[in-house]
Amino acid sequence: MELRSQVLLWELLLLQSSAVLLSSVPSGPAPAASSVVSESTVSWAAGALAVLRCQSPRMVWTQDRLHDRQRVVHWDLSGGPGGGPARRLVDMYSAGEQRVYEPRDRGRLLLPLSAFHDGNFSLLIRAVEEADEGLYTCNLHHHYCHLYETLAIRLQVTDNPRAAGAHWDGEKEVLVVERGAPALLTCVNRAHVWTDRHLEEAQQVVHWDRQPPGVPHDRADRLLDLYASGERRAYAPPFLRDRVAVGADAFARGDFSLRIEPLEPADEGTYSCHLHHHYCGLHERRIFHLTVTEPVAEPPPRDSPGNGSSHSGAPGPDPTLVRGRSVINVIVPEGRAHFFQQLGYVLATLLLFILLFIAVILATRQRRRGGYEYSDKKSGKPKGKDVNMAEFAVATGDQALYRSEDIQLEFRKEYCK
Ligand SMILES: *[C@@H]1O[C@H](CO)[C@@H](O)[C@H](O)[C@H]1NC(C)=O
Ligand SMILES: *[C@@H]1O[C@H](CO)[C@@H](O)[C@H](O)[C@H]1NC(C)=O
Repeated sequence: MELRSQVLLWELLLLQSSAVLLSSVPSGPAPAASSVVSESTVSWAAGALAVLRCQSPRMVWTQDRLHDRQRVVHWDLSGGPGGGPARRLVDMYSAGEQRVYEPRDRGRLLLPLSAFHDGNFSLLIRAVEEADEGLYTCNLHHHYCHLYETLAIRLQVTDNPRAAGAHWDGEKEVLVVERGAPALLTCVNRAHVWTDRHLEEAQQVVHWDRQPPGVPHDRADRLLDLYASGERRAYAPPFLRDRVAVGADAFARGDFSLRIEPLEPADEGTYSCHLHHHYCGLHERRIFHLTVTEPVAEPPPRDSPGNGSSHSGAPGPDPTLVRGRSVINVIVPEGRAHFFQQLGYVLATLLLFILLFIAVILATRQRRRGGYEYSDKKSGKPKGKDVNMAEFAVATGDQALYRSEDIQLEFRKEYCK
C-alpha cells in the first residue's frame, strides 16, 4: 500500500512537471497594433469540453435584435418664449424608429427617415408658430463609441417678411422665419460613424488564432473569423473544425468564448482571441496556453469475473482505491503495482547476494595473507600451492571456502613435521 501511494505521488509530480514544461512554450512577439489584455494557462482532460473565455462588454453593440440601436439623433428645444428647461421634440434610432413627443407636433415636425444613411439630420417645421421660438439642439449620440455631437440653432419668428433670413451670432446660427412659413433647421453630419452601417459591421471583427506548440505568434493558424454582420468564416484544420464553436449570438452578448468538444491531445497549443473594432479603436487580444491532460480514468472493475462469489467473504471496499480516485483520478493498475513490488524484492535479494560475496572475498584474502606469513616464517620455501592460491581470488565463494580448508590442513601438516 505504501509503495503504491508513493508511485501515485510520483506519477502526479511527473504529470505536473510536464504540464509546466508545455505551458512555458514561449509565444512570439505581440504586434503593436493590438494590446494583450490577458494571458493564461488552461488545462482540461482529453474528451472534456474546453471553454476559452473571451468576453468583452465593449463589443456588445446592440442589446436588442435591431442591430443598430446604439446610435440616436434627437432634437431638443430649450429657452422658448417663457424660458424653461430643454424638452425632447423628436428622436430617432439608427434602425429607423422615430418618435415625436408632443401630439401637436405630429406631422408638423419632419425628420428624414434616411438620416442615418445620408447624414442629413435636418429638422423641418412645416409652419412656424410663435411657440416654436427658442434654442434648438441637434444631438447625435453613439452609445457604443461614446461619441456625442451637438449643434445649436436659435429660431426666431417674425411677422416682417423682409426680416427673415439666417445669420451667425458668433456661437450659433440664428434663423429668422416668417410666421406660417416652413423652417429648415439644418444639421448635416456625413462622418461615416453616423452614416455607414455596413462599414461599421465590417469593421467589427473577432478572430481566433491557434499556434501549435512551438510555433511563433506570427505564424499562427487562423481558426475563425466572426463579423458583426453575422458572417463567419472557418479556417480550422479538418481535425479540429467540427469540434470548435463560438456561440451564434456572440456579438449580441459580447461573448466570443471558444468551445472545443471533445478535447483531444492534439489540440494543445496557444489560442488567441482578437477583438477588433476599427472605428472605435478597440484592439484587444486574449491568449490561452491550452494543455490537455490524460483522460479521467475509470477504475478497473475489481471483481468482474466470478463477481466475488469465488471468494468466501466479499472483500470490503479498498480504502486506498477510493482515496486515489478522489484525489487525483489516476489509478495505477494492479499489475503495475505488483511489478514494482517484485522488482523491489529482486533488487534487495541481488544486493544481499553482492554484500555476501564481498564479505566472503575479504575474509578469504585475510586468511590467505595470514597463510603467507606463516609459511614464509616456518618453511621459507616457495611452494606450488602459493601459485594456486593466487587464483583463489577469482574463484567463487564456495570454492574459496573449500580451498582455504585444504590450505589450513596443509599448514597443519607442515607444522607437525
Ligand atoms: C436635408 O433634408 C431636407 C429635407 O428634410 C432637404 O430639404 C435638405 O436640402 C437636405 N439637406 C442636404 C444638405 O442634403
Ligand atoms: C455482479 O453483482 C452485481 C451486484 O453486485 C450484479 O448486478 C451483477 O449482475 C453481477 N454480475 C455477474 C456477472 O454476476
